[in-house]
Amino acid sequence: MEYNIALIPGDGIGPEVVAEATKVLDKVCEKYGHTFHYTSLLMGGASIDVHGVPLTDETIETARKSDAVLMGSIGGNAATSPWYKLEPSKRPEAGLLKLRKSLGLFANLRPAYLYEELKGACPLKEEISDKGFDMMIMRELTGGLYFGEHKTEKVDGLDTAVDILTYNEEEVRRIAIRGFDIAMKRRKRVTSVDKANVLDSSRLWRKVVTEVAKDYPEVTLEHMLVDNCAMQLVKDPAQFDVILTENMFGDILSDEASMVTGSIGMLSSASLNETKFGLYEPSGGSAPDIAGKNIANPIATILSAAMLLRYSLDLDSEADAVEEAVKTVLRNGYRTGDIFSEGCKKVSTSEMGDLIAAAV
Ligand code: IPM
Ligand code: MG
Repeated sequence: MEYNIALIPGDGIGPEVVAEATKVLDKVCEKYGHTFHYTSLLMGGASIDVHGVPLTDETIETARKSDAVLMGSIGGNAATSPWYKLEPSKRPEAGLLKLRKSLGLFANLRPAYLYEELKGACPLKEEISDKGFDMMIMRELTGGLYFGEHKTEKVDGLDTAVDILTYNEEEVRRIAIRGFDIAMKRRKRVTSVDKANVLDSSRLWRKVVTEVAKDYPEVTLEHMLVDNCAMQLVKDPAQFDVILTENMFGDILSDEASMVTGSIGMLSSASLNETKFGLYEPSGGSAPDIAGKNIANPIATILSAAMLLRYSLDLDSEADAVEEAVKTVLRNGYRTGDIFSEGCKKVSTSEMGDLIAAAV
């Protein structure tokens, strides 16, 4: 089959890790007889440097017309990069948020899985890591604090900032349905995370999620407060199957979940709309401090490409092959620096890509 894939390499380590993911996708094409037509698009700092804005309308339209989008990462060092002298709505991150909103990508899936081979890189005590874990964080991605009004003004002579957190019941319902659908294909457990002891938006969240749960009698639903969830993720991560949560909580908890897998360089993600279309990106950032050094871990981006094959193109065997290839390479002892431990073989970004492509 032929597919059109938009690539957004972005900033920092983005171009390096996307190059490794396309290397793996090219191997998939060769082996399974597909053709991918790639179109490379600018976003974030890379777009500011050329167009003066982090995202152009042409980029949005080209992305929309593709079958799926594969992204690296965007952003730079906020203390030193000129991009952060611009007003907030013109900075790199604003481009990503606008793209998510414009394409209606409300459902963000972030799987956090502890590979047997990486138990040594897990920062938790052995008695906890020994049990392993395999969870899917379902993060609402186009509502909440990220998209409410933001303003800073003088109130009674004092600089005062406001960020508004809004959810309507429909926004909660559609992500809850996605969460329960995914739980049905997994271990049939949903932990809905909120702050219902303080926030009205969380009380609405809890009510709507409870209603949706009635349509899924086989799924066990539990509600958990976000502060408790942050603690449970390091105390007993094996308890979680699907974590369903709003935008800001999901942002924070997914970084925490990624770190307990050994490295943020391992966490893939898919952002989906109502159709099969999606944007796939590693959950980690652009890591400007290590950009251009060929030492970043490309696995999160390669696993994001596997999610692209599975969710947008319905190519399950091909996705399985990529995921298996990652496992094989880890089993054979190859590690980038972030997941390196004694006795393993340290490899560069491009060597890791070569090894995984060869194992497909
Ligand atoms: C993420 C990132 C983004 C977010 C930033 C870059 C705006 O942290 O995808 O988790 O907060 O959503
Ligand atoms: Mg984040």
